[in-house]
Amino acid sequence: MCGIVGYIGPRDATPIILSGLKRLEYRGYDSAGLAVIQNSSIEVRRDAGKLERLVSLVEKEPVQGKLGIGHTRWATHGEPNARNAHPHMGTTGEVVLVHNGIVENFLELRDELATEGVEFHSDTDTEVIVHLVERYLSTEIGLEEAARKALRHLRGHHGIVLISSKEPDKIVAARIGNAGGVVVGFGEGEMFLASDLPAILEHTRDVVFLESRQMAVITEDGMDLQTLNGEKLEHEIHTVAWDPVAAEKGEYRHFMHKEIHEQVRSTTDTIAGRVDFESGEVRLPHLNLSKEFAQQIEKIVVIACGTASYAAMVGKILIERIVRLPTEVDIASEFRYRDPIVDENTVVLAISQSGETADTLAAMAAGRERGAKLWSIVNAIGSQAMRISDGYISMQTGPEIGVASTKAYTAPLIDLYMLAVLLADLRGVIDKKQRRELVAELRHVPDLVGQCLQREPDIQKVAEVLRDTSHCLYLGRGINMPTAYEGALKLKELSYIHAEGYPAGEMKHGPIALVEEDMPVVAIAPKDPWYEKMISQIEQTKARGGMVVAVATDGDELISTLADLVLWVPQVNWMLSPAITVIPLQILAYQIAVMRGLDVDQPRNLAKSVTVE
Ligand code: F6R
Repeated sequence: MCGIVGYIGPRDATPIILSGLKRLEYRGYDSAGLAVIQNSSIEVRRDAGKLERLVSLVEKEPVQGKLGIGHTRWATHGEPNARNAHPHMGTTGEVVLVHNGIVENFLELRDELATEGVEFHSDTDTEVIVHLVERYLSTEIGLEEAARKALRHLRGHHGIVLISSKEPDKIVAARIGNAGGVVVGFGEGEMFLASDLPAILEHTRDVVFLESRQMAVITEDGMDLQTLNGEKLEHEIHTVAWDPVAAEKGEYRHFMHKEIHEQVRSTTDTIAGRVDFESGEVRLPHLNLSKEFAQQIEKIVVIACGTASYAAMVGKILIERIVRLPTEVDIASEFRYRDPIVDENTVVLAISQSGETADTLAAMAAGRERGAKLWSIVNAIGSQAMRISDGYISMQTGPEIGVASTKAYTAPLIDLYMLAVLLADLRGVIDKKQRRELVAELRHVPDLVGQCLQREPDIQKVAEVLRDTSHCLYLGRGINMPTAYEGALKLKELSYIHAEGYPAGEMKHGPIALVEEDMPVVAIAPKDPWYEKMISQIEQTKARGGMVVAVATDGDELISTLADLVLWVPQVNWMLSPAITVIPLQILAYQIAVMRGLDVDQPRNLAKSVTVE
């Protein structure tokens, strides 16, 4: 979950590293550091807190050189203080290293190194790696071989980058397992590397993603790729299409605000080129789906975490309704531990913005072990989830930087709808007319999203009312039950207000006891097949003195008499309504957090890519 950047070339490495780290700060932000080779010795600057602290430190104590590495941390072992910040230096001061991942056998390795006389200067698991490298360097071999020998001791999933003042013409980077992505960028006489694309996109779009157990030795002229056993490998350079400007804040105060407002474009791009409105055909070429396999599928299990799992819940309703195919949703962290029943006629479909979430990747591996076909809906291009899938749908939203997911929630809702239509078509469940009708509904989505966004000033007024509340209940039914979960998650993670999402029908089984004046209830009640049930729920809440904020369809007079406040949304086909009803809830959570003076893009304790279990 940490961010890593590296540079080697004719320019000064320090500003390149700092600007790369700025773009990766969403990955972790409790400490940051860099190391640069200056006049043949390694200079390290690091501090606790956000990247700004490192920037001020570097202003006070400048450092300059042609080669350097940097890190922004999400603490796993050891407090987020300066001594635990990366880079970590060994005993000789000749080698430094930055790391993303967890050394699962670090206690064992630390004891072993301690008996060899090594003294530790941090509480991190990472420090064992640099001492292991030094152990082998002392046997007169070079950095490359020492790294290979050292890294073979590690258990777990890692991205590791190291440099040595004795070999100031190279950076060694390795990836082990799923979670520690490393991407190497190729420039003209200069090379870049990072844990994630946005850090290097302003410099190059020509990249190589390291696979597990691969190590790259990077000089300013290029890269040698090898396995951790030293076998040389060929590499193929990919040119990525992402626009670096997409990773800038532009006129917006926060990335999250920008990303909420990008949803007209991202929903348009999600649909563009994938449906033919004339014929109603859906094209998802990267899914590699044959008619024969579509007809063979007996069950789909959708796995995901957090916000992505709420998209999965909507997907279950869509696939079951449109395709009549049994579909389960599993929280990825639970799936792998409950001996799931899947076989070669099951599709395990992962949904992940980052494509790096450790639990999701492990659940995919559990599906693979049992012979299931692996599909994914992923945003990060070249990510592990995308690469290990038999077929994928790419989200087409561009980079999502705000830690709270927004546009990467609405995109998969549409992807799942298109997938359902495609499967229904290939399995002969719908005819051409039904196919055309279903596909026609998609055309309206971007415009309806845009209409919701224009209502931000009205949503802001509701935010004013709720800004000081301590608790909030979100209720929904049917296809908008996941919207309630998502609305509550957005509020709690951004504003630290305790919020719960509930299936509205469950209220009478306990939670209704919580209803009182000080417990606002957000009821998601658009004109969908569950509308009347939601009306009863709103009435029951009002009868107990609760304050109701309804998400309701334009022109619904009944709701305006029942609810205290209304977040209006335009009329939409119920199957696509979650992509619309969630928009005011994203804005509501965003506005409340801003009013409370909180860090919207980087809420406390969170990170964008959750690469630990
Ligand atoms: C919440 C949020 C998280 C992610 C979850 C899965 O706003 O962003 O709940 O949805 O950590 O992440 P991905 O989609 O990267 O697998």
